[in-house]
Amino acid sequence: MQGTVRTGPWWKRGVIYQIYPRSFMDSNQDGIGDIQGVIAKLDYLNDGSENSLGIDAIWISPIYKSPMKDFGYDISDYTDIDVIFGSKAEFIQLLGEAHKRNIKVIMDLVINHTSDVHPWFIESRKSKNNPKRDWYIWHEDKGKKPNNWVASFEMKNAWWFDENTKEFYLGTFTRHQPELNWRNPELKKAVYNMIRYWLDLGVDGFRMDVVNWYIKDDQFRNNPWRLSLNPIAVQRHLYDRNRPETHEICREIRAITDQYEDRMLVGEIYTNETREAVSYHGKENDELHMAFNFSFLFQKWCAKGFYNNILEYYHALPADAWPNFTLSNHDQPRHYYRYRDGKYTDARAKVAAALLMTLRGTPFIYYGEEIGMTCERIARKDIQDPLGKKGWPFIRGRDAERTPMQWDASPYAGFSTVRPWLPVNSDYKHKNVSTQSKEKNSLLAFYKALIWLRKRNNALSLGDIEFMEKDPKEVLIYKRKYGDEEVTVVLNFSKRQQRLQIDTAGKEKTLFGTHRSKGEEIFLNQLALYPYEVLIAGSLN
Ligand code: NOJ
Repeated sequence: MQGTVRTGPWWKRGVIYQIYPRSFMDSNQDGIGDIQGVIAKLDYLNDGSENSLGIDAIWISPIYKSPMKDFGYDISDYTDIDVIFGSKAEFIQLLGEAHKRNIKVIMDLVINHTSDVHPWFIESRKSKNNPKRDWYIWHEDKGKKPNNWVASFEMKNAWWFDENTKEFYLGTFTRHQPELNWRNPELKKAVYNMIRYWLDLGVDGFRMDVVNWYIKDDQFRNNPWRLSLNPIAVQRHLYDRNRPETHEICREIRAITDQYEDRMLVGEIYTNETREAVSYHGKENDELHMAFNFSFLFQKWCAKGFYNNILEYYHALPADAWPNFTLSNHDQPRHYYRYRDGKYTDARAKVAAALLMTLRGTPFIYYGEEIGMTCERIARKDIQDPLGKKGWPFIRGRDAERTPMQWDASPYAGFSTVRPWLPVNSDYKHKNVSTQSKEKNSLLAFYKALIWLRKRNNALSLGDIEFMEKDPKEVLIYKRKYGDEEVTVVLNFSKRQQRLQIDTAGKEKTLFGTHRSKGEEIFLNQLALYPYEVLIAGSLN
């Protein structure tokens, strides 16, 4: 049943852990996380033993040089590291230390826009005939804004007037993030060289920011409006996103990546339409290795809802495309908070973790989810996110999901010895890595056990999936199969006991779970599940 995983690239077998570097670990006591902080915690992430979390790769949100108007998603030098995080030499050290532990390193690739202080943009705005003018999207002033496109983080028109040349440039996040012109061959060449630069240095791939945003309509047509409180959803983005030419760029970046061994591209497709997201795998599976599946970020706590969501996604994926799942990230409220339910919150977090780790598809973990970090209200005066700083009544921004990692019970949760850039959650004294490392039934212990089980088990990492109940109410039950290896996963999403009515005589043995010990025999056709029970079992041969 269990052995060494034999085939499949690392990014299919592995678990990927997202680090939001400002909040992971502060090594130089300036209140902001840094590269040395990440290095110091690599053993926690994977030291090769089951005492560590056991993840296979880290994706680090941007650490390039940046004025930090959008905390690194506004880059002013693509080939340098911001001093706030450390130096290039320290990044190279991080690569070496991570690789020593078999941890891959994925960088964030933010190439839809740069910072407005990137030298390319400084050049571009100098004059209309500057050689870099066309590297960005400029439009002449005809007495009004060129069209109705919206800057999501400003809730204003996305065309910004430049006094110097009396033209508009496009910036669809903030005015400080001018959009690159991907129709310009010179710009493409410069970006592709930058990609090669990092691949040559040894990075294992990229998480690509807002991929479906790269190319804009060549006629700059207006988007149709629609009613929404969400600034990103107030328009149907027919003309500023998802233009057909974007796929060509993805194929080109994939071709570059394929020249290197074992590298991976995972792209953020900013949409809630599954079909649009999965199209970036490419018709021939020749674009991104994975297009982020964000559907769980918006999924309510409901077994049937998860079931429909998962099936819709699997069905939409092109043939041979590899799936992925994410419960939390730096842009949406953490799932521990979203799924809170009084005394059952921890139990729910375990069910959610088990789902994430046993579905067919690469799991992405967001730092801190393994200890159940939650979201707390950030006081207006402490808000940092440009989206939250606007003072709009319903939008407080993304700071609550970006608070410092809770390492121990010391002041500032062991993240720093000085006041961090964002407040530490108030529950840190009892909810932290140190405490949970000592508790046998903690969420952290649960994540570790699940990840290591998945790692040892071909069926769980690479196997096919088949749901055994086609109309689930409160319980999801599915089989994962790889060759003659087979695992059954049973998840009770409710606070009530559930009796299973599965038509199978199968006698199985518990491999892992919340209520039964390893080796305990179970009969699937007469199983009474405990509230929020997680059960992973295998056939007895
Ligand atoms: C998507 C990123 O996930 C988000 O954090 C960022 O603000 C925008 N892209 C702009 O780069």
